[in-house]
Amino acid sequence: MANQKLSPSFLVLFLLLLFSTAISAANSDFFSKSLSPSSLKLKQQKLTHLHFYFHDILSGQNPTAVRIAQAPITNTSTTSFGAVAMIDDLLTFSPDINSTLVGRAQGLYALSSQEEASLMMAMTFSFLEGKYNGSALSVLGRNPPFNTVREMPIVGGSGLFRFAQGYAEARTNTFNLTTGDACVEYNVYVLHY
Ligand SMILES: *[C@@H]1O[C@H](CO)[C@@H](O)[C@H](O)[C@H]1NC(C)=O
Ligand SMILES: *[C@@H]1O[C@H](CO)[C@@H](O)[C@H](O)[C@H]1NC(C)=O
Ligand SMILES: *[C@@H]1O[C@H](CO)[C@@H](O)[C@H](O)[C@H]1NC(C)=O
Ligand SMILES: *[C@@H]1O[C@H](CO)[C@@H](O)[C@H](O)[C@H]1NC(C)=O
Repeated sequence: MANQKLSPSFLVLFLLLLFSTAISAANSDFFSKSLSPSSLKLKQQKLTHLHFYFHDILSGQNPTAVRIAQAPITNTSTTSFGAVAMIDDLLTFSPDINSTLVGRAQGLYALSSQEEASLMMAMTFSFLEGKYNGSALSVLGRNPPFNTVREMPIVGGSGLFRFAQGYAEARTNTFNLTTGDACVEYNVYVLHY
């Protein structure tokens, strides 16, 4: 078998394949090229743990979470299905909202389940303290707030968190059933360079 001559049709196919690979390489060279990770100073990947408290304030004169949209059925849905809120929530060092501000959670959450209270979170944690001042993490995930622990993926980051990936664990610290105000403890584990 190994010594058998290649059939002409196989040769043609092979040449065509080579030719199309060359063309696609030339095309991609037009707007992209491969780089070595060291050219972006990417060295050893590291793991960072961040710990802070998230304050979601719906009540009072200065709410940090405001409803921006809802569906016609949201009012009659037991899970507020279809409601969307914009947030600019404080992230602080301790559960005290007046403790050191370490960052802000900015973005959206949407009531996305018809079966239970569950949020689809799409937000950035932009940090304001210490070495991560000016850097941010992007969170995208499912958050059923009455579960003891909710896990949400960290899907990326900027600044010192470029190429970040990881997960966040959220645990409710306090929740006021009357106002809807909540303080949530976050533990974030993130791999980055
Ligand atoms: C839902 O209820 C709120 C008050 O609770 C009211 O302002 C709003 O108009 C209602 N929306 C719909 C679509 O019925
Ligand atoms: C935080 O500070 C504000 C204004 O300085 C004050 O009104 C509020 O009661 C404080 N909150 C807590 C929980 O101490
Ligand atoms: C964070 O960075 C901003 C902009 O560089 C700066 O104005 C601010 O003072 C820094 N905050 C802290 C707590 O260092
Ligand atoms: C919930 O908020 C209301 C209004 O601010 C307040 O009167 C009540 O004490 C709070 N409940 C809890 C458990 O903190």
